[in-house]
Amino acid sequence: MNITVCIGSSCHLKGSRNVVERLERLILERDLKNEIELRGSFCMGQCQTGVSVLVDDTYYSLTPEDTERFFIQTVLPKLASTKHAIGTQIEPV
Ligand code: FES
Repeated sequence: MNITVCIGSSCHLKGSRNVVERLERLILERDLKNEIELRGSFCMGQCQTGVSVLVDDTYYSLTPEDTERFFIQTVLPKLASTKHAIGTQIEPV
């Protein structure tokens, strides 16, 4: 799974650095470094929202305070469903 956090100027002012640091900590705490790639990006063209975050191909808008809840409620279930889908594909028929 790829998580890309916008570090453009508008998102920077809304706390993107703090979002990145929180995501890094959450990924490390759960030992998910091999499963989640965290990246930065310049402006994603969504400046009117909060900090723009792209999880695979879906955009989200976060604040630093939302980050842990977002990780638990959105990222972890998405990751689990990806794993399930991969496991389903390689099961013998
Ligand atoms: S600066 Fe983040 S979407 Fe524009």
